[in-house]
Amino acid sequence: MARKLAAGNWKMNGTGADLAEARALAERHPSPSVEVLLCPPATLIHRMAEALSGSAVMTGGQDCHAAPKGAHTGDVSAEMLAEAGASHVILGHSERRADHDESDAVVRVKVEAARRAGLVAILCVGETEAERDAGRTLDVVSTQLQGSLPTGTMAEGLVVAYEPVWAIGTGRTPTVAQIAEVHDHLRDELATAIGSGARDVPLLYGGSVKPANAAEIFAVANVDGALVGGASLKADDFSAIVAALEGAVGE
Ligand code: 13P
Repeated sequence: MARKLAAGNWKMNGTGADLAEARALAERHPSPSVEVLLCPPATLIHRMAEALSGSAVMTGGQDCHAAPKGAHTGDVSAEMLAEAGASHVILGHSERRADHDESDAVVRVKVEAARRAGLVAILCVGETEAERDAGRTLDVVSTQLQGSLPTGTMAEGLVVAYEPVWAIGTGRTPTVAQIAEVHDHLRDELATAIGSGARDVPLLYGGSVKPANAAEIFAVANVDGALVGGASLKADDFSAIVAALEGAVGE
């Protein structure tokens, strides 16, 4: 069985004052029955990791460079994230793919970098609205998954997040049947790629997850948690999502 994970992606939001939200979240979940992670912007990783030290809430990055160090102005390596206190790194988010032209091949070497640095890679896949309308959703996520997984990938250190591009920040979500279809498919694809360890890879859903819809989404088979954007910025909202995941585990 895969571990359950509630992961927050703060994107390009948050300054020092917002560390209070991270502290409040940790105080509300002193010993959660699921894994809880916040991924702030790079400038806050070290401070957040220190603020959360001794708590059950982990800190992660939102991207990394493939190389451990070198002449790459503005970039941050996986090793640097780990040293700053990160345990995880989000890779291949659709906003990186769109804003920075990241291909599956680029994402793949970043997944390798995360493994090298001992970080858990949260690999994101997801279709655009046009791709869904064209009936290509399963093909698109298969291609992204296969193209982004390094050879020799194992379940350990890997999380996969299904984030339909059209559901991110829009308040729209797929139906539970649509989520189930993609998550079942991703589980099968992972089994082909990495064998029986596929069942141990947490599969997260992301895209407009809110306190109001979290329980319904977490009840779907093969959904092991969520990657949450906007609703992870406030402890009140994210705490309700963590509680919904704990509730789903308890059932
Ligand atoms: P929202 O939860 O704001 O839709 O963002 C989802 C997301 O992109 C998380 O990585």
